[in-house]
Amino acid sequence: MNATVEVHLDRRAWRDHLAAVTAAGLQDDPPWTPPVWFYDQVGSALFDRITRLPEYYPTRCERSILEARADRIAELTGAETLAELGSGTSEKTLLLLDALVAAGTLRRVAPFDVSEEVLRDAVTTIGERHPGVAVHAVVGDFHEHLGHLPTDGRCLLAFLGSTIGNLTPAERRVFLSGVRDVLGEGDRFLLGTDLVKDRGRLVAAYDDPEGVTAEFNLNALRVMRRELGAEIDTERWRHRAVFDEDHQRIEMHLVATAATSVRIEQLGVDRAFAAGEWIRTEISAKFRFEGVHAELERAGLDVVESWTDDDGDFLLTLAQPRGTSAS
Ligand code: SAH
Ligand code: TRP
Repeated sequence: MNATVEVHLDRRAWRDHLAAVTAAGLQDDPPWTPPVWFYDQVGSALFDRITRLPEYYPTRCERSILEARADRIAELTGAETLAELGSGTSEKTLLLLDALVAAGTLRRVAPFDVSEEVLRDAVTTIGERHPGVAVHAVVGDFHEHLGHLPTDGRCLLAFLGSTIGNLTPAERRVFLSGVRDVLGEGDRFLLGTDLVKDRGRLVAAYDDPEGVTAEFNLNALRVMRRELGAEIDTERWRHRAVFDEDHQRIEMHLVATAATSVRIEQLGVDRAFAAGEWIRTEISAKFRFEGVHAELERAGLDVVESWTDDDGDFLLTLAQPRGTSAS
């Protein structure tokens, strides 16, 4: 197997950056923490369980679209490089990989994720499935290191799982322009977005009766305790998911069940929480077809084709950088 893992995070600088962002967030109003604390090894395994929950439809819907359309995507892209941002386990990516290998164009796969452990496992999975394809994995932050993506030859850059919904509209604008800038002629961008739907189903997807999502959310507190030396009484927090109609997004909260505090001495954080006060740990925006297309177009990415699953729950959109012709 031909595989490399490049680490583009200077560990120390990355940790200092996350610490500063977390300290600022905890002192904001309302307080919030960055999503990066979810994805340690335990959190990544919990996320994997979330994707298999009956209530968590996005993974299944996106997979069904990929099953139906992977050959079409291979035909439209003729990709030599398949790169993926926030690739995680790369499980759904295998469908694209299989189709591109069958089409005979694929040379290399470039999974990109901030979580090195998960990325290393994905490299093994991909290598076992297609030993002839080179794997060039990159550990990095997609807000900072898009320039390190290997995009050699015709590149298909995928961003699946509606991870884009975890960004604010302003962050999405910057991110999509960054994506536009790394793509050249002949390259394509494949974006997965969750669509607005019945509120009950939305909330259930982020608050399952088994409590896996709750465990995932609470795990972020343990990671902050370990990584930042934060003093947090994890027994005094509970998970809550709410749908914010104004912003059309799910918000993940940790709600204090009794008076407590979050202290991070070396960062000067000491915030008291009364029972019922909360921290926002994640947002997950829900989209409409027109909105996704408008955001892509505004970033200079022209829509080539887009597809939903049979029930219209999830949207997959293929786009190309403006000013480049189709094949
Ligand atoms: N694409 C997979 C995983 C989605 S979970 C799927 O569709 O199921 C989100 C993934 O994005 C996690 O693996 C997490 O580690 C990664 N991630 C989150 N923030 C990131 C960032 N700033 N830069 C790179 N990867 C990030
Ligand atoms: N990108 C996923 C989503 O927005 C991430 C996710 C799923 C998530 N469940 C979660 C993030 C629970 C935080 C908490 O659907």
